[in-house]
Amino acid sequence: MSGQDPKFVKGAFAKIADRYVMTNHVLSLGTDILWRKKVGRIVQGWQAQRVLDVATGTGDLALEIQKKCPDARVLGSDFCPEMLAHATESGVHETQLADAMNLPFEDASFDVVTVAFGLRNMENWEGALREMARVIRPGGHLLVLDFSQACGLLRKPYGYYLNRVLPKIAGLLTGQGAAYQYLAGSISDFPFGEEMVELFKKAGLLESQCEPLSGGIASIYTGVKAA
Ligand SMILES: C[S@@+](CC[C@H](N)C(=O)[O-])C[C@H]1O[C@@H](n2cnc3c(N)ncnc32)[C@H](O)[C@@H]1O
Repeated sequence: MSGQDPKFVKGAFAKIADRYVMTNHVLSLGTDILWRKKVGRIVQGWQAQRVLDVATGTGDLALEIQKKCPDARVLGSDFCPEMLAHATESGVHETQLADAMNLPFEDASFDVVTVAFGLRNMENWEGALREMARVIRPGGHLLVLDFSQACGLLRKPYGYYLNRVLPKIAGLLTGQGAAYQYLAGSISDFPFGEEMVELFKKAGLLESQCEPLSGGIASIYTGVKAA
């Protein structure tokens, strides 16, 4: 089980940073907003004081968590300066340039670590989960939101949309169709459902579970750091 080439990933996001948010909303017909809102509600329920949003990109999830958890200290980190600059501009309270494979934080520094549509783009999924688990305090939570594979009748039409339609629309919107062709491939390579739950367990997370969203197009995975 492997991951993605970090040099390619960093370069691809640097190129689309200025249009990333708008393109997301168009391509998902706004569904990505609802998914992040759901994550915000879950994190709110954990009553966290210190939250790290890894691979925060333009900061959309960090902002949603700030809104839902006004008393929490929310830090957004990313290894792509062009993406992170948008997070800072949009009002994420604290941002830090950091590689998720080697986070510059002490063990057990956060109550909650989140990562939305970031893990799939990393170099080593199991290693990244272990590194994120390291910085969570015992009893704290990890939450991953990412694309998974659509199930049932949705599978074929969604596959067609992802592979054929989406890169063309994204190409028109961003001038970077190749970056979105990569998206389809990265989703088909990425573990989902029970396979991802197993990776959570290997990273030392307990009570690991998966909640599919929108017919399995995306999933939320959660786990608790062992005491
Ligand atoms: C699809 S964007 C997701 C951004 C944001 N979390 C969201 O929900 O829209 C993926 C982000 O992951 C970041 N990323 C990928 N690999 C990373 C790594 N090893 N360390 C830190 N950030 C990484 C990219 O720079 C990019 O900003």
